[in-house]
Amino acid sequence: MKTVVALGGEGIGVEVVEATCELLVAAGFPLRILTPPHGEAAQATDGSPVPDQTKRLCGQADGILFGAAGGPASVAVITYLRWQQDAYANVRPIKYYEGAASPLTNPHGIDFVVLRENMEGLYPAREGDLADLARAMPELRDRIGRGVAEYGEGRFAVKVVSRRGTERIARFACELALKRRTQGRPGKITCVTKSNVLRDSDGFFQEVVEGIVAQYPDLAYEHFHVDDAARRLVRFPQTMDVVLCMNLYGDILSDLAAEGAGGLGIAPSGCFGDRWAYFESVHGSAPDIAGHGIANPTATILSAAMMLDHMGLADEAQRLEAAVALVYREGRHLTRDQGGAATTREFCKAALEALG
Ligand code: NAI
Ligand code: MG
Repeated sequence: MKTVVALGGEGIGVEVVEATCELLVAAGFPLRILTPPHGEAAQATDGSPVPDQTKRLCGQADGILFGAAGGPASVAVITYLRWQQDAYANVRPIKYYEGAASPLTNPHGIDFVVLRENMEGLYPAREGDLADLARAMPELRDRIGRGVAEYGEGRFAVKVVSRRGTERIARFACELALKRRTQGRPGKITCVTKSNVLRDSDGFFQEVVEGIVAQYPDLAYEHFHVDDAARRLVRFPQTMDVVLCMNLYGDILSDLAAEGAGGLGIAPSGCFGDRWAYFESVHGSAPDIAGHGIANPTATILSAAMMLDHMGLADEAQRLEAAVALVYREGRHLTRDQGGAATTREFCKAALEALG
């Protein structure tokens, strides 16, 4: 028996996590699933969105499944799971399942990972007043020689690119590409920056990544500027393997890439630190459809499959993914975002039947 902590978060996060947990239990997987208080409810009862006891259970669990954040109380849960645990590697698989509603003419064979650096760049926000920046750094000049004071009233945000943060995500990317290579993938890193404009910060990221990739002679490597990369993800998605992105670019490109493979409702993710991991869909709380029971649970089910794999339940993970793939191939129980009419629970029921 392994222990899983499931935290729905907010909006459809709650619905898809509940439905996914029911599926995992009905499937008979060797799991004990705990659902400790968190978010707004815990704020009301325990005076904190992430009570100590919830943190303790997360710390002891074999796997953690999160739904989605929306307002401050559920954002506090992500703050705990991601930022406070230093979960720096955000793995976002982009995979086309036959029958998924891709807008591309040819989505067949799309199978890559957007690896998002999860801790640096422009996140978590460090913002302020331009006047303060002008006072603190009177010598700071932009590329055309203007000082900060010359902009007048306004705000700024600070982008951080550290050597340590970049080295570790680059290494993670290389190890992931090697692992995928043993599964028949090409073994290629595609690095995404805007180093042509942000020469010091993005340029440093690119340079450090290239230094690490050079230690992996078995891997292929390419670099694209983020605008070009966006275009390539639409035009040549089948050529991608591990797409290593700085934080903000990875956030944006993973939604874009997910849509190509069938939509946000299908996109799973895992966030990894050195001794920590948790799993969540790429999508948010979707207030526009929350409460109707119609959200696509696929992203969360596939996140759960990633979690099972990470917990050492590789067979269960593969069976679960295969069941989802079968539901899409058959196409009879798809949710609305996929052009079907199934509810969240009807999809899960179909997945359970597909598990056999
Ligand atoms: P969103 O991902 O919640 O929704 C974007 C669009 O996709 C909406 O039209 C929604 O209905 C649709 N959608 C998303 N997931 C779906 C699913 N499983 N099935 C069917 N349709 C689905 O992004 P949005 O609207 O920008 O943000 C809403 C809230 O979620 C905000 O408070 C935002 O900060 C938060 N958010 C949280 C994330 C997280 O927890 N990791 C990630 C993205 C947004
Ligand atoms: Mg996002």
